[in-house]
Amino acid sequence: MKGTSFNSINFYNLSYPFFKNIAFALDAERAHELTIHSMKMTGKFLPDHKDDPRFHLKAMGLDFANPIGLAAGLDKNGEAIAFLTHLPFGFVEIGTVTSRPQTGNDKPRLFRYPEEESLRNRMGFNNFGAERVLENLETSRRRGKIIGVNLGKNKVTENTDAPKDYSVLYRKFAREADYLVINVSSPNTPGLRDLLKDEGLRQIFEAVEVERKKQPKPLLVKVSPDMALEELSSVVGLVNEYKLDGIIATNTTIMKERGEGGVSGKLLTKKARETREFLLKEIKNSHSKAELIGVGGISHFEDLMDFWRAGGRLTQIYSAFIFQGPGVLFEMEKQLGNEFKKRGTKTFEEFLESVRK
Ligand SMILES: Cc1cc2nc3c(=O)[nH]c(=O)nc-3n(C[C@H](O)[C@H](O)[C@H](O)COP(=O)(O)O)c2cc1C
Repeated sequence: MKGTSFNSINFYNLSYPFFKNIAFALDAERAHELTIHSMKMTGKFLPDHKDDPRFHLKAMGLDFANPIGLAAGLDKNGEAIAFLTHLPFGFVEIGTVTSRPQTGNDKPRLFRYPEEESLRNRMGFNNFGAERVLENLETSRRRGKIIGVNLGKNKVTENTDAPKDYSVLYRKFAREADYLVINVSSPNTPGLRDLLKDEGLRQIFEAVEVERKKQPKPLLVKVSPDMALEELSSVVGLVNEYKLDGIIATNTTIMKERGEGGVSGKLLTKKARETREFLLKEIKNSHSKAELIGVGGISHFEDLMDFWRAGGRLTQIYSAFIFQGPGVLFEMEKQLGNEFKKRGTKTFEEFLESVRK
C-alpha cells in the first residue's frame, strides 16, 4: 500500500494492547507521564513516516502532510515532538503553554471511562512555562511537520490582564510555531471561559493584533462546545473582523454528573459535532475564509467523513489516540486510501469534492 509503512503498523498494532494493559493499570496521569518520558527518550531515533502525497493539503498558507493532527494537551511542554511527528500525524499542536510555569490543579485530575472511550480532566494548564517550552520547540526534531502552539493565560492573571498574557506569548512563539492558538475555552481555569464573550475576546484579539503585524503567523481561537449559538456566532464575527485564520472546535465539555473538569472522547462526539456544524454554516454564510479545525469525539474514520461532508477539512484527535494508540492513525490512513480508490480521486481536494457531491 502506497504511503504507509507496514513495519510501523505491525509494531504499533502488536505492541499497543500490551502497553495499554500496563498503562491502564496505573493512575491515568502517572501513565501519561511515563508515556511522555518514553516518547522523549526514543523519539529522535525513530524513522520518518512515509507520507502519502495524495493526502497532502494546503490550509492557512501551510502545507499539511495529511488532515489529521494531534490536539493540544497531550504534549503540553513540547517534549515529545520528535516522537509524535514520526507517526502519521499531519500536524501536532503542543501546549497549552502559559507565560510562567504553573503546577495546575490538585491531583487526581485525570480520569478514564474505558467503556465509553472517554476521559475527564481538570488539569488546569500545568506546564513548564513559555521559556522552557520554547527551548524544547527550538531543539526538537520535527521532520518538516506543522507544529502549532496553544497559548493560555496563567491562573493568577486577572481576566482584565489576559490580553497582555496572550500578546506576550504570541510574540515569544511566533518565530518557531507554524500556527498559534488562543485558548480561552478550557473549563479548568476559573473564569477563563468568560473571555469567550464578545468584549473579552475582542480585547485579546486587539492586543495580539499588534504583535501579529510584526510577525505574521496563522492564528486561531479554540472554542468550547458549551457555548450558546449566539456566542458562537459572535466568535465568528470577531474572527472575521480581526482576520484570524481559523477556529478550533471544540475543547472538552462540562458534564456535572460526572464531576469536575472537562469530558472528551465519545461522550463529547454529539455536542462537538453540533458545534462544528453550526460554525461551518456560520463561516460559510459570512463568506469567511476562516478554517475550521474539527476536534472532539473523533474516534473512527466515519467521524472524519461526517466532518468532511459537512464542509470541514483539518481535524485533530486526542482521546482516540489514548484508547486506540497510534494504530488509529494507520487505520484512518488506510481507510482514507480505500476511499480514494473507491472514488477514483487523486488529491485531497478532489476527494473532498467527491465526498460533498
Ligand atoms: C488530559 C487532557 C488535557 C487537555 N489539555 C488541553 C490543553 O492544555 N489545551 C487545550 O486547548 N485542550 C486541551 N485538551 C482538550 C483537547 O485538545 C481536545 O480539544 C479534547 O480532548 C477533545 O478531543 P478528543 O475528544 O479527541 O479528546 C485536553 C484534553 C485532555 C483529555
